[in-house]
Amino acid sequence: MTSKGPPPPPATPSPPATPATPVRARPQVIAHRGFSAEAPENTLAAFRRAMVVGVDAVELDVHLSADGEPVVIHDPLLERTTDGRGLVGAETAEALRLLDAGRWFGEGFAGERIPTLAEALHFLRPIRVIVEVKNGPVRYAGIAGAVAAVIAASGHRAVVVSSFDHELLPQIRAAVPGIETAVLYVARPIDSVRLAQEAGAGILQPHWAFLTPDVVAAAHQAGLRVEPWVVDEPDHLAHVVAMTPDGVMTSYPDRLRAVLAKLGYPLPPAVTS
Ligand code: G3P
Ligand code: CA
Repeated sequence: MTSKGPPPPPATPSPPATPATPVRARPQVIAHRGFSAEAPENTLAAFRRAMVVGVDAVELDVHLSADGEPVVIHDPLLERTTDGRGLVGAETAEALRLLDAGRWFGEGFAGERIPTLAEALHFLRPIRVIVEVKNGPVRYAGIAGAVAAVIAASGHRAVVVSSFDHELLPQIRAAVPGIETAVLYVARPIDSVRLAQEAGAGILQPHWAFLTPDVVAAAHQAGLRVEPWVVDEPDHLAHVVAMTPDGVMTSYPDRLRAVLAKLGYPLPPAVTS
């Protein structure tokens, strides 16, 4: 007689397929000086291209004109990216507006201007903006107050102010309550968390080559975000993304998007201003 044992247990359902998208948040795609690999840096053309390709944020640089207007340009001197000469800070905003800031990059960009910060924030109102305040080697009396006033008047609700001059950051926070600030640096400090906390900043922005996973972990443990710069090569982008930062600044947002797509992340949508 054959014994009929207990009925077999129901078949274990097979595990679900690996989801196409990871659960944890992806790093933000931050276009460095706009999509500066494809258009003249820090111009509306570079900002437009960044939004069209699809980014979470744009980083830009600010100096002060002779009459106290924050203007968007990287160098303290006009020669490299405009047809002007001499110091940005020696010219009025009206004189700066007459310069060509696009032809150096390509004839097709002739006529691009140096935007004021107010114009840039208006143009970039659909997305987050990181405003880097330049204050060295040329130092500008009153730049923190001037930048804060423009940001406050803009009504833009997603502005971050960063600087290598960390002393400016508490001044910005005092003038624009609730604004986010970021410490920029090229180093691997003994205590990165303390570096940010001493400046009252919520974001670490290290040069990517000095970033290590323990710094990211310590920052996250302390409630800080980490946004390294400027990562342009595909191998470097993959290396940095693997450290799980909160954002990555790149002059090639298309390359960062490709790295993130390969990892199965959803990508930031294109935005038309
Ligand atoms: O804000 C990050 C990075 O832009 C700082 O260096 O020289 O490109 O302004 P730089
Ligand atoms: Ca910058």
